[in-house]
Amino acid sequence: MFGFFEGKSWDASDIPDLTGRIAIVTGGNTGLGLVTVRELARHGARVYMLSRNESKAITAIDEIKNEIPEANVEFIHFDLQSLKSAKQAAESFLAKEDRLDILINNAAIMAVPYQLSEDGIELQACNGTGHVALTLPLLPVLKRTATDPNSRVRIVNITSIAAGGAHKPDFTNLDTLNRPFWITVVRYANSKLFNMLFTNELQKRLEGTRIYCLSVHPGVISTDIWLGLNQSWPWLSPLHAIRRRLMLTPYQGALTQLYAATSPEVEAKDLKAAYLVPVGKVGNKPSLGEDKKGELGKGFMDLCEKLIAKNS
Ligand SMILES: NC(=O)c1ccc[n+]([C@@H]2O[C@H](COP(=O)([O-])OP(=O)(O)OC[C@H]3O[C@@H](n4cnc5c(N)ncnc54)[C@H](OP(=O)(O)O)[C@@H]3O)[C@@H](O)[C@H]2O)c1
Repeated sequence: MFGFFEGKSWDASDIPDLTGRIAIVTGGNTGLGLVTVRELARHGARVYMLSRNESKAITAIDEIKNEIPEANVEFIHFDLQSLKSAKQAAESFLAKEDRLDILINNAAIMAVPYQLSEDGIELQACNGTGHVALTLPLLPVLKRTATDPNSRVRIVNITSIAAGGAHKPDFTNLDTLNRPFWITVVRYANSKLFNMLFTNELQKRLEGTRIYCLSVHPGVISTDIWLGLNQSWPWLSPLHAIRRRLMLTPYQGALTQLYAATSPEVEAKDLKAAYLVPVGKVGNKPSLGEDKKGELGKGFMDLCEKLIAKNS
């Protein structure tokens, strides 16, 4: 399905040795994030699993350690829907480590009914804003790590092909961010556009550093993210039984973010602000995601910075 695996493709065995590297994966307790944590740890990285659910995260970490006894994985509490929590998660990390090689902004929800977060942000828009709030306080350690000539520092934002269905956002203020798109999947599409705009703008702000920022569409994968549709349209529930047969596995889905985070080809091909699709191929950004003048990216980051200043 989806013409995914034809011939030998990049896979997790191609991940280079990551001994001495430190990684963060948000939403690492299940789905693509869990595979990503496991494979980074298998190749020697120390990995921080950022999750809102401590017991689920600890169970997931125990499973990884059963499979890979030498795995070095730790939990940090992180709620994507709280700007304060995102900032605190960054601070918890900074209290433990003085380098950060890989930041994978992977957590997300999809297609849930309209609701506002504690900060007054529409919940799916938090897929974007929460990751900005986590990343900004981590930039100094990422930049510092990138001065190590042996480093390969990456910030990987997981977006989606769904971003192609986004409506043009308006980042004038919180009301315009929250207002226009009442169809739940359009709000998801917009949140995935935000992830892409964030990559573009961040790469500009990191000009002169050796840090690579990338956007990744992982494929269409059978994970719990599809259960969000049930909350909005319960009559779709029976269809979920057949999705596992049609969609990629979480392992297959995690490969492109693992490639973006670890492959030396990222530097060799100079993939700054690239949009990658399975497996590790450069895709075409939708025109809103291309954002040639950079106005949307700047608008999104400026609004996030105002919201963060007010709420954290
Ligand atoms: N699956 C697909 O077909 C597909 C396609 C395109 C893009 N993607 C993208 O791939 C990424 C991973 O999705 P997935 O398919 O692996 O979904 P998933 O299995 O549902 O995993 C999502 C992860 O995000 C976490 N999360 C959700 N809300 C959170 C919050 N408020 N605070 C902290 N963590 C939170 C979840 O934690 P809990 O377990 O606590 O809920 C879970 O760990 C997402 O960015 C998604 O948009 C997926």
